[in-house]
Amino acid sequence: MKIAVIQGPNLNMLGIREQQIYGPMKLEQIHQQMKEFAEQNKIEIEFFQSNLEGEIVDKIQECYGDAHGIIINPAAYTHTSIAIRDAIAAVGLPTIEVHISNIARREEFRKTNMIAPVCSSSVVGFGPFGYHLAMIGMVQIFNEIAAAQKAQQAQQPQA
Ligand code: DQA
Repeated sequence: MKIAVIQGPNLNMLGIREQQIYGPMKLEQIHQQMKEFAEQNKIEIEFFQSNLEGEIVDKIQECYGDAHGIIINPAAYTHTSIAIRDAIAAVGLPTIEVHISNIARREEFRKTNMIAPVCSSSVVGFGPFGYHLAMIGMVQIFNEIAAAQKAQQAQQPQA
């Protein structure tokens, strides 16, 4: 099984940007921890970060037929991007949205969320630990899909 981790604009500045909101951890450190968890659970993982909306749309499309699940923090595009929302809906993969900060407790404009309605679930406000929670959630989703497939196969008449 493969997870694609997609990070939106300014997340490459973690550890530098607004530390009082996002904390001191750098993106590479978050990814290292995710990589270790993936290895322990025998899951393939790929990381992608872009500051450009179209590149994020391209990456989501590339996941079709390649990855089994997406963990995405669309960052500021969460609040504006119909294109990213449509791409997630188009590929139809289990998708978990992560936000480091609690966007419900911040400025009014962050309360608009284009992405959440097309995601399987959201992890919000846990700091960088949210990415770890999303990994646990994705493993759970993979297990549920495997169990459902197994149950379906068991119901099919033997040839
Ligand atoms: C963010 C929240 C967004 O509102 C913001 O634009 C970001 C990061 C978060 O992880 O808390 O860049 O997605």
